Amino acid sequence: DQNSPADGTSREDNDLPVRVGKMEDIKNSRRMNATVNGREIVVFYHKGKLHAMDKHCYHAGGPLHLGEIEDINGQACIICPWHKYKITLATGEGLYQAIDPKLPSALPKWRSKGVKQRIHTVTVKNGDIYVTLSDPSISCESDYYADKYKKPVHSSL
Ligand code: FES
Repeated sequence: DQNSPADGTSREDNDLPVRVGKMEDIKNSRRMNATVNGREIVVFYHKGKLHAMDKHCYHAGGPLHLGEIEDINGQACIICPWHKYKITLATGEGLYQAIDPKLPSALPKWRSKGVKQRIHTVTVKNGDIYVTLSDPSISCESDYYADKYKKPVHSSL
């Protein structure tokens, strides 16, 4: 097929769910690393829910799979171990604390910087966990490190 890219991948390949592990394993480990079409991701199991995101922090590529999970303002966040950036598990938003300079006595409030870390879709079928990469045509800050650490994808060519 002359229309296939030389590396054997295509947009269509990235649309497909890829099996990354078993539910029974992540219930014990609470997190697992996986490579999906060459992209390094991490899957968290937190409070009965699965969340997949790019493994390398959008800020400077830190290892999110080694971070602690904390509840911030009712949102579960992974805290990057390198510079303590906070990223929501559900949406990939970066959270920061802001103080209104006109109200110096006010307590700092948590605010969102918007979606910074790419979130991927997780599904479970027959006890197996699958990850489907999210649409790459919408860019996300964590793409820079995802591309930098991308693994070669097996090709049959
Ligand atoms: Fe994650 Fe800096 S690399 S906070």
